[in-house]
Amino acid sequence: MRKDRFVTKRTRKKRRRLIIWGCVVAVLVGLLIWMFYGEIVVKHYVVNSDKVSNGNSVRIVVIADLHSTYYGENQQDIIAKIKEQNPDIIALVGDIVDDNRSESGAIEFLEGIRGICPTYYVLGNHEVWSGQWEHIKEMVASYGIIVLTNESETITINGIELCIGGVDDPEVFEYSTDEQIRAMSSDEEMLDAFVSLNHNTYNILLAHRPERFEMYQKYGFDLVLSGHAHGGQVRIPGLINGIMAPDQGLFPKYAGGKYVENSQTMIVSRGFGLDERMPRLFNPPEVVVVDIVGEG
Ligand SMILES: [Fe+2]
Repeated sequence: MRKDRFVTKRTRKKRRRLIIWGCVVAVLVGLLIWMFYGEIVVKHYVVNSDKVSNGNSVRIVVIADLHSTYYGENQQDIIAKIKEQNPDIIALVGDIVDDNRSESGAIEFLEGIRGICPTYYVLGNHEVWSGQWEHIKEMVASYGIIVLTNESETITINGIELCIGGVDDPEVFEYSTDEQIRAMSSDEEMLDAFVSLNHNTYNILLAHRPERFEMYQKYGFDLVLSGHAHGGQVRIPGLINGIMAPDQGLFPKYAGGKYVENSQTMIVSRGFGLDERMPRLFNPPEVVVVDIVGEG
């Protein structure tokens, strides 16, 4: 009798220990999956404007920093996610092509989004570093995409007039053979040369570099769409929004998300780029959806 009770007690203890270890392993596996989760997520932002009539809206899908990375066969995962959003406009904000990878991933992506809706593109730094940026711009344009090289276009969507400007990545000063471009010393000069906003129109700037937000603010764009920061690579949700980003260093201010300064809004996509040297943690690749919603 005493022996039976002892055995039962021991068995119960063993079972309890097994359950505890099972829970610990399950939590660790769950944490690891969450940390390295690589499925594309959709990040949705709403920007209100009194320049747009009440009840009216425009939807922009922003894609940044693909770096020719594949997401599914023929890029079907990313293309399906974009189509699901029913965008009115697609904004490609640079580094769609990479300087160290074959451009085939970018080509299949461009082929896949062809004809979905009006699409705009600006240059990123890796595309400049490839030394092939003129070729890349021609290639992008060959898919019916509007390449914005320090210029803007006006388009009317759902009865809303939008002016969309795009600025080259400032790396062109270093690498360009064009004397006029080399003579400039900053992207501010490029913007000065073409920006002349009608403030009754809703004005959007596509610019690869978010760290230049303070400078963009002098022009009075309603919305800036950007990328480049890769979400700060490693995030701790709710605590640290990115550990490191190019041109911003440690704990970047504009790693990814929505920023409002001086009544101007910038949305920074965390993008799609994968870096073999540093994994993305708590930082899944994202399709950004921006709804400009009227409150006028
Ligand atoms: Fe970049």
